[in-house]
Amino acid sequence: MALAFKEIGVVGAGQMGSGIAQVCATYGANLKLYDVSAEALEKARASIEKSLGKLAEKGKISASPSEVLSRISLVKDLKDFSEVGLAIEAATENLSLKEKIFSDLDRILDSKSILATNTSSISITRLAAKTIRPEKVVGLHFMNPVPIMKLVELISGQRTSRETLKAVEDLVRSMDKIEIHSKDYPGFIVNRILMPMINEACFALFEGVGTAADIDQGMKLGTNHPMGPLELADFIGLDTCLAIMEVLYQGFGDSKYRACPLLRNLVEAGCLGRKSGRGFYDYSGGKA
Ligand code: CAA
Repeated sequence: MALAFKEIGVVGAGQMGSGIAQVCATYGANLKLYDVSAEALEKARASIEKSLGKLAEKGKISASPSEVLSRISLVKDLKDFSEVGLAIEAATENLSLKEKIFSDLDRILDSKSILATNTSSISITRLAAKTIRPEKVVGLHFMNPVPIMKLVELISGQRTSRETLKAVEDLVRSMDKIEIHSKDYPGFIVNRILMPMINEACFALFEGVGTAADIDQGMKLGTNHPMGPLELADFIGLDTCLAIMEVLYQGFGDSKYRACPLLRNLVEAGCLGRKSGRGFYDYSGGKA
């Protein structure tokens, strides 16, 4: 199936943005990857190359890694997005930053282009309100690691049109992913369920119910999760987990979503999980 969009732009070269860029380019898109940090762009290129190498070695992609990489341009100016038919914002989970990116992209993109966000919990309707194209704004929420995980959550904002939804649904299917549809409420479907579980695992550790290793082993062997909740939190990023809990707490106004103080302390201490070398576990010399 040919891709619905030939030219795609991705904003943010972190683990989600680089994974999304990789998958879109693998399926034939000419991809522009933007970040404010030149270092983040270079890191993204290296991780895309490594991931493509692994997938090619196992015969899981038909295109060669060099062919896919040749379709990805690293850009440091958002104005380079003027020709893209679809822009996917995958910046840090911060409302004011995302609002700024949305209003900038709204000015740069052609009026027919679609503006999607990979936000894991922030209101699509609120971001759409920063643009003059709310019917062309949609949530396109990939899961980490993007090249491996099958699911993409599609979220319609209050004014997202059927045409926009259909266009991104076609894109998801043509990249061999499977969509689910969520209404625009805090955390959508996956994070509304996943994050309270991770937060509860933090409380279990905080209250001394068990060690991190036992909590994770319990959920791995007891419920067949591929990773325990604390290990998964380190993998996602503790700052992202905390940001999502805050969105759930504020959005629903319900104390059941209050973030565990231990999660907050770890984030304040700069222990953000794998990406910072320490979270619930220490990654400098293997797991604690
Ligand atoms: N690129 C290419 N290949 C990759 C990869 C990547 N980025 N990451 C992992 N792989 C491959 C590995 O090479 C390996 O391949 P083989 O089985 O063919 O050898 C395979 O995936 C499995 O990897 P590992 O052996 O290293 O480890 P694993 O068996 O534990 O699998 C995992 C890793 C796929 C990440 C698995 O642990 C898993 O599914 N974990 C849960 C992930 C999850 O829940 N993600 C959702 C997070 S929530 C989210 O993303 C939403 C949000 O908004 C926060």
